[in-house]
Amino acid sequence: MKRLVSGIKPTGELHLGNYLGAIKQFVDLQNDYDCFFFIADYHALTIRPTAKDLSYLTRHVAAMLIACGVDPKNTTYFLQSDISEHTELAWILSNFVSMGALNRMTQYKEKSDRHGQNAGLFTYPVLMAADVLLYDAEVVPVGDDQVQHLELARELVRSFNAHAEKTFIEPKPLLNTGARIMALNDPKHKMSKSIPGSAITLLDDETAVTQTIKRAVTDSDPGAKEMSPAVKNLFTILEGIGNRETYLRLENQYKDGTLRYSELKEQLIDDVIAFLGPIQKTYHALLKDEDALVQILEEGRKKAQPIAAETLAKAKKALGLIVG
Ligand code: TYM
Repeated sequence: MKRLVSGIKPTGELHLGNYLGAIKQFVDLQNDYDCFFFIADYHALTIRPTAKDLSYLTRHVAAMLIACGVDPKNTTYFLQSDISEHTELAWILSNFVSMGALNRMTQYKEKSDRHGQNAGLFTYPVLMAADVLLYDAEVVPVGDDQVQHLELARELVRSFNAHAEKTFIEPKPLLNTGARIMALNDPKHKMSKSIPGSAITLLDDETAVTQTIKRAVTDSDPGAKEMSPAVKNLFTILEGIGNRETYLRLENQYKDGTLRYSELKEQLIDDVIAFLGPIQKTYHALLKDEDALVQILEEGRKKAQPIAAETLAKAKKALGLIVG
């Protein structure tokens, strides 16, 4: 079975963008690949969350992925900070990437404007490369915004393998139709927890879902020949979470010119509420037994750590470091 790795940062409550860009793929692919999913809690430190927020959000992500359908028995599900090989390999890899390459990362530019230029934020993609390379991942399901980081990981592999013996394989990003879910109130930006009104979180109640969708932008030019990015975004969400027949029916109405956007919105509100209900129920049940959640991550650590240790030893040997 091919190996697949992906992670999610506990920096905010998860939203439909995270679900459609990443988590849905995790669930759909977990039987076809040897999957490693982790909570990128060391990456979360780059924005210096309070201890309270970080510990809440780590449990939030841990439970939410399972509530969305990730099966910890069928995958290796763990916490990044539990496996010190991630940071060790990141140090090694940092010697094979230029400052110029790191400086070109758009996420660094965006995030450093908001959170300040700390070195962790700058070297963030190196830790991300280590996350993936430690497990010899062939594919990495992510949203569009992570593709540049994975390109850098591929460059790192080439640079390392050219210097030492061939140690790593180049990981490929895997994107689906929900790879770039846009902000509901501003289709020029991607859906993100940091833009108020842009996101529907997986914990939103009926009132919040209804309000956010009712306020969503649709068309500024209803006479335009092409579907506007905002309407396309609503359709992408409908397709990702709802029933295929409803989606096709509304799409046909759009093509005929008979679709009222209020109708599209009402359908989306109903479908999002119906989609979130069971997820929220499972989520709250999982959080009632935190010990069981910790135990799941501990099982994952036990499976992941020996693999990580083996790859790290291989990389160290390739560089001439003495491995005991
Ligand atoms: P993070 O935690 O910001 O986001 C988690 C996943 O959700 C995707 N995503 C989106 N997809 C579609 N539309 C959106 N609006 C949207 N917003 C977020 C992201 O692309 C991501 O797949 N650096 C990563 C975490 C990470 C990682 C890794 C991922 C750390 N190490 C190794 C893969 C492999 C991040 O910050 O994702």
